[in-house]
Amino acid sequence: MSDPDVVVQSPGRINIIGEHTDYNEGFVLPAAIDKFVYIAIQKREDQKLCLYSTEFNQHFETELENLSSQKGHWSNYVLGVLPQLIKTGYSVSGLNVLIDGDIPIGAGLSSSAAVECAAIFALNELFQLDLTKIEMIRIAQKAEHEFAGVLCGIMDMFASVYGKKDYAICLDCRSLSYQYIPMTLHDHKLVLFNTNVKHNLASSAYNERRQQCEQGVAWVKEHRPGVQTLRDVTIPMLDQYVLPKDEVVYRRCKYVIEENMRLLMACEDLNQKNLLSLGRKMSATHEGLSKDYEVSCAELDLLIQLVKNNSNVLGARMMGGGFGGCTINLVKENAIEQLVNKVSKNYLKQTGLECSHYVVSIANGTSVVENHSEVLQS
Ligand code: GLA
Repeated sequence: MSDPDVVVQSPGRINIIGEHTDYNEGFVLPAAIDKFVYIAIQKREDQKLCLYSTEFNQHFETELENLSSQKGHWSNYVLGVLPQLIKTGYSVSGLNVLIDGDIPIGAGLSSSAAVECAAIFALNELFQLDLTKIEMIRIAQKAEHEFAGVLCGIMDMFASVYGKKDYAICLDCRSLSYQYIPMTLHDHKLVLFNTNVKHNLASSAYNERRQQCEQGVAWVKEHRPGVQTLRDVTIPMLDQYVLPKDEVVYRRCKYVIEENMRLLMACEDLNQKNLLSLGRKMSATHEGLSKDYEVSCAELDLLIQLVKNNSNVLGARMMGGGFGGCTINLVKENAIEQLVNKVSKNYLKQTGLECSHYVVSIANGTSVVENHSEVLQS
C-alpha cells in the first residue's frame, strides 16, 4: 500500500499470572510485549472491503453489506469490528486494509486481539469516531465473540490497548479499574517456550469452562442470592453447595478462586521485588490449570517438566487459554542460552516437534504510527 490514510500498531500480550479469571470477574496481570500487528488503511470511494495479509500472503474481498464471519479465516479479526460500528449507527465506507506484523500466530500471544484492537483504533482515527479506549476494547472483544466464536474475556484486548513499557497491568475485570505494577526483574527475563501445537478443542473447551464456572455460581446463588459471579464465592461456599453436586465443577471453581488470591499476592511479590516468591506462585498456577482446570496438554506439561527443579528457572506455567501455545518462564538471564538448548533438544526428542522460544520485553500499548514507511513492508 503506497500511501495509507492511517497506520496503527497493536502489541501481543503475555500474562504473568491470573489465568481464566477474566470472564469470572476476577483479576489478571497481563503485559503488552514487543511483538506487534500493524494495520494500514485507505478509504475507498465504494463499499468494497479489500484486505491483504502479508503473513498469509492472501487477499480477501467482500462488501460492507455482506459482512459475515468466515470460519477460521484471518479476515474475521478485521471484519468483525465493523458490524459493531454499523449497529451503533456510525457510517463507514469501503476500505483497503493491509495487515502485517510479527506476533506468532496460534502461540497464545493474542495476535487476534492485537488485530482487532489495531483495526478498531485505525477506524476510530480514520472516521474520527471519538470512541474511548474502553469502547474500543469492548468492540474488539465482541468481534472475537461473534466472528471468531470464542467467548473470551477482556484481558487480551485490555493488555494490547493499555500496555505500558516495563509494567504489568493489574486489572480488576469486574470494575475495570487497573494499576500498573513495575516489572523489575533484575537479572531475570521472561522466556516463552512455544509448544507449536494448538489442539482443536481449544475453543470448545474454553466455552465449556466458562459454562462450568457459571454452573457453580448458579448452585451457590440458590442459597446466596447476592452472589453474581465467582468473584463473590468463597471456598467454604463451594464446599457446601457445589461439591455435593459435581466434583468437576467444584474443581473448576476452586481453581479460579485460588488463582485470584494468588494473583493479589503475586502483585505484592512484584512490589517487594521478591521474584522467588512470584516464581513459586506461577508454578502453583500451572498445577491448578493442569489438574483442576484441565486446560493444559501433554506438550505444555512436558515443557514445564523440562524446567522443573532448575534453580535458574524461578517459575514456569502454561499461559493463556490452554491446549497449546506457550509456557511463560522466569529465567536467570545468563542461563537462558543453556536452558533453551536443553529444552529444545528434549522437546524434539520426546514429541518430534520443534519448540520455538521468545525472550520478551514489555512494551507500550496500541498507537497510531506516524512514520509509516519504517513498519510496512509493502
Ligand atoms: C484467552 C482469552 C482470555 C483469557 C485467557 C485465559 O486468552 O482470550 O480472555 O480468558 O484465555 O486466561
